[in-house]
Amino acid sequence: MTPRKPLKKAVFPVAGLGTRFLPATKSIPKEMLPIVDKPLIQYAVEEALEAGIESLIFVTSRRKHAISDHFDSEPELENHLSKSGKHELLERISSVIPNHISRIYVPQLSPRGLGHAVACARSAVGNEPFAVLLADDLIKSPDQGCLKQMAEVYRKTGDSVLAVETVAADQTDRYGIVDARDTVVRSIVEKPAPSAAPSNTGVVGRYILDGKIFELLDQTGPGAGGEIQLTDAIAKLLFEKRVRVHHFEGTRYDCGSQSGYIKATMAYALEHPKLRDELLEFVREFLV
Ligand code: G1P
Repeated sequence: MTPRKPLKKAVFPVAGLGTRFLPATKSIPKEMLPIVDKPLIQYAVEEALEAGIESLIFVTSRRKHAISDHFDSEPELENHLSKSGKHELLERISSVIPNHISRIYVPQLSPRGLGHAVACARSAVGNEPFAVLLADDLIKSPDQGCLKQMAEVYRKTGDSVLAVETVAADQTDRYGIVDARDTVVRSIVEKPAPSAAPSNTGVVGRYILDGKIFELLDQTGPGAGGEIQLTDAIAKLLFEKRVRVHHFEGTRYDCGSQSGYIKATMAYALEHPKLRDELLEFVREFLV
């Protein structure tokens, strides 16, 4: 058996316009919106690090500075926290990304779709398997993070892996929808109408992809919504490589929608030891 190339790189497309959250996202990327006290992108980065990723590749727009600033050190703030004895906070802001992890910022000059965003990372990734994490899909797992679960499938099989969940049958037009047998993907289609959907198994924003996908993205023209779709390139990949689904353990919050974002905030806040009791009492006031 040829040894697998290790999974060390992750791509975070963060150049979307986030129009559903305007005006909040006029000057910051939607991935910087906080859930309790951490921005969405930090949850995704932590999930990637837990899965053994060592190189973080952010595909950004001209508003990228908020994200790079967030992960850079902030000497003035660190000094202040240190002098005022707030060591726990200091530790929380200075230890997000360990020093041996590389960070690369790649520009996506125009928003032409998820496939285009991933293609922008080609030279940073090279010809290796890599992960893609969409930070607005926040996945709260009871034990291992979603990407770590998928990395285990990759380690065992060497195949590309898509995280999936069952979606409402009338909402297939929001997702990449797969037809899979025994975890192997037979077909995939982007945002089909319910009447045309091959199943109601929807792809959520976590992928482990063979490096071959870049060549296929080059050959992919605009698809659903006039955008270059990652799903369309994955459909081509199926002819050359095996792609598997992974029904992850955990709950996914669609933080690209206002209701999903608020649900995620509630779920994380209600688990927070310092917030739980007060918030439960507050919520009960609305229920009577
Ligand atoms: C993207 C993908 C889609 C996937 C979804 C998961 O769509 O194109 O295949 O199911 O993410 O969140 P978007 O939500 O960016 O429209």
